[in-house]
Amino acid sequence: MLTAGPTHEKIDPVRFVGNHSSGKMGYSIAEELASRGAEVTLISGPSQLKVNDTSIKVTSVTSAKEMYEASMACFDQMDGAIMAAAVADYAPADYSDKKIKRDGEEMVIRLVPNPDIAASIGEIKRDNQVLVGFALETNDAVENASKKLKKKNLDFVVVNSLENKGAGFQTDTNIISIINRYGDKTDYPLKVKSAVAMDIVDYLEQYF
Ligand code: PMT
Repeated sequence: MLTAGPTHEKIDPVRFVGNHSSGKMGYSIAEELASRGAEVTLISGPSQLKVNDTSIKVTSVTSAKEMYEASMACFDQMDGAIMAAAVADYAPADYSDKKIKRDGEEMVIRLVPNPDIAASIGEIKRDNQVLVGFALETNDAVENASKKLKKKNLDFVVVNSLENKGAGFQTDTNIISIINRYGDKTDYPLKVKSAVAMDIVDYLEQYF
């Protein structure tokens, strides 16, 4: 199972809180897994992308809550999960079903925490299931990613940092490091996301 893309947290019928994820990284991993014979369920936030491999089962969602529900509903039947989505950590507390009008005054939108999907899966994961997380960082990448690995009970974490040109959101390339739960770190050079996906799936194969 894979999560990919952004989530959109609705404010009113025309506005949302979101982020810059295109889905490219997660979709590339889904294609790579399917090309090696895996049965893939891709839970995707709003993305322009389409899958090429028709064996990939796509569940389209919009918000973090929907992604959480779709992920929790199918994880039990999965051999593992790769959490490549950029999930909004907060959502507006209130939704206005009419477009909010501009009145020239300051406006405050109260945000409430969304469920942490990776951490929730980390809590229910069995010993024979593998959980892979991503960490998108802007500073202290290794330290922050290692904390996420422990907190979310990941088997390994794929770190990408916006400090590196050509890494992260929207680009066709990425620069990653993989850190496992024993603290071993493997660094990879700049590659196109399809080649990064091969590296991640190669690393994953040793868990099966
Ligand atoms: O889609 P692209 O444009 O190709 O960009 C790829 C990417 C930068 C989005 C991808 O490589 C990436 O880093 N994805 C994870 C982004 C992120 O939200 O990282 P994080 O450090 O905030 O989250 C840590 C982990 O917890 C991630 O596996 C995330 O999916 C998961 N998470 C986070 C919050 C939440 N509420 N639920 C989650 O499951």
